[in-house]
Amino acid sequence: MKKKIGVIRGDCSSREIVAQTLRVLDAIAHKYGHEWEYVDVAMGGDAIDRYGNPLPDHELEKCLNCDAVLLGAVGGPKWEGLPGDQRPEKGLLALRKGMGLFSNLRPAKIWPQLADASPLKKIITDQGIDFVIVRELTGGVYFGQHETNEVAGVRQAIDYMPYDENEIRRIGKVGFETAMKRNKKLTLVDKANVLDTSRLWRSVLYEMAKDYPEVEFDVMFVDNCAMQICKNPSQFDVIVTENMFGDILSDEASEITGSIGMIPSSSLGEGTRGLYEPIHGSAPDIAGKNIVNPLACILSAAMMLRYSFGLEKEASAIEQATEAVLNEGWRTADMYTEGMKKAYCDQITDLLLEKL
Ligand code: IPM
Ligand code: MG
Repeated sequence: MKKKIGVIRGDCSSREIVAQTLRVLDAIAHKYGHEWEYVDVAMGGDAIDRYGNPLPDHELEKCLNCDAVLLGAVGGPKWEGLPGDQRPEKGLLALRKGMGLFSNLRPAKIWPQLADASPLKKIITDQGIDFVIVRELTGGVYFGQHETNEVAGVRQAIDYMPYDENEIRRIGKVGFETAMKRNKKLTLVDKANVLDTSRLWRSVLYEMAKDYPEVEFDVMFVDNCAMQICKNPSQFDVIVTENMFGDILSDEASEITGSIGMIPSSSLGEGTRGLYEPIHGSAPDIAGKNIVNPLACILSAAMMLRYSFGLEKEASAIEQATEAVLNEGWRTADMYTEGMKKAYCDQITDLLLEKL
């Protein structure tokens, strides 16, 4: 199979994890007889440095001409002082919008090998943690109008949080269909006791629930959900939620599985062209030290093979190799616990490549 892959090397320690991920993709191509053409794309801080814009049109255009895009992470202290619409993060939001990627899947699954690294008590992790957050990715408050003004000498800011029923319905469909492929339980997370947008989400999803009689559908307030994720995470199968709640809850959900450095994600729109990225940030504090965990990015590449290219065997091979490395006790610093063997970023990739 021949595919064109957009590669966004990103900022700070992102460059290290993307480099390791390409080694894994090369090994897969070699072993299974595929051919990848990598197209370098600048986005985030890197694009600001080169072009003065976190996502110039020509870079978005490159992504639209690829079969899928792989990303590490963007942002860092160097660009923190910039105005909101010129920051690296704005490039990421514009990329998601420009590629039409409204649906973001963030699996929270505990690797039994990493249960000791979870901040939760064993009595809770023993129940198992295996759910998916379906996060709406191109609407809501991250894409509403942002304003900062001064009124009568008092500074004020407003962020709008718009949603229309069509945006809700298309992500609701992903939620129900994801649940149908799993344990048939869907939880809508919202703040319907306060927000109009949440009340609209509820009304649309209750309507849709009638078309999915096999799915056990329920609703939960976001504050309660944040608490339930650490108290009783095994109750969840699929969570569907709006953009900001999904952003916040997915960080929490990843950490209870042992390390945020292990969680990949996929973002898709109507077709198969997706964006694949770890859910963690660019970890500027550890950049250049070769200690960042590359596995979330490598597992994101596995998701790309599965969801954009339909290469199930190759995707599973990467996941199984990851598991084998963990089984042997190898850990990067973020997931290290006593008695384990510490590995550097490139070293854990070497080990993984040996298993492939
Ligand atoms: C994420 C990140 C981004 C988001 C930031 C960097 C804009 O936190 O992918 O979760 O909020 O979506
Ligand atoms: Mg986030």
